[in-house]
Amino acid sequence: MQIAIDGPASAGKSTIAKQLAADLHFIYLDTGAMYRAVTWWALQQDIPLADEKKILTALDDEPIRFIPAPGGQRVELFGHDITMAIRSEAVTNNVSQVSALPGVRTEMVKRQRDIAAGQNIVMDGRDIGTTVLPHADVKIFMVASVAERAKRRFKDNAEKGIHVPLEKLAQEIEARDFKDSHRTESPLKQAPDAIKVDTTSLTIPQVVAKITAIIQKKQ
Ligand code: DC
Repeated sequence: MQIAIDGPASAGKSTIAKQLAADLHFIYLDTGAMYRAVTWWALQQDIPLADEKKILTALDDEPIRFIPAPGGQRVELFGHDITMAIRSEAVTNNVSQVSALPGVRTEMVKRQRDIAAGQNIVMDGRDIGTTVLPHADVKIFMVASVAERAKRRFKDNAEKGIHVPLEKLAQEIEARDFKDSHRTESPLKQAPDAIKVDTTSLTIPQVVAKITAIIQKKQ
């Protein structure tokens, strides 16, 4: 069974997707982490972020590894543990540019389909229901207001000791939404057969319960 969870930044996708995968004993794939890993590597290697060819050459066939770890997954690339580094402001503010590169998307989509092949999987991202897994059994489009998403990111940041003003976070979220939904390659948009779930005033258990009920209907 394949479950696709799409939606804008900080709508709660990864928290919910992780929980659903654990409850169902499915694999979880965070596709945003893959674009973040590529962005991190390009920044590390000082590759201009518009230079798709150089980025793909530098990445080569190196796998982005997701290794089960206490409390989630560890992300590794070229032997580096990049779990924390891919959440840095530098990566967050540049990932939209890298994820808009058509060649990078083609390569990531291919890798995502390879990982999903024949597996029970929960995958979250922006284009899972529309492009990566168009035949997914369940498609969720998760949304929340910009103010609520900024508040959630602020809280996440505070827990990591990062301090970015709330207004700045809201601006960054809006900018990322705009870029993600206006790029030519696989823009963020709801698949016609996806179910919209607005998480603005719901708790995590409430969202999990809502989506679990949707999945159960399909099983
Ligand atoms: O979900 P996230 O914030 O970790 O995603 C990071 C960036 O990657 C975000 O700007 C959108 C992009 N992305 C994408 O284009 N396609 C996906 N399937 C997942 C993420």
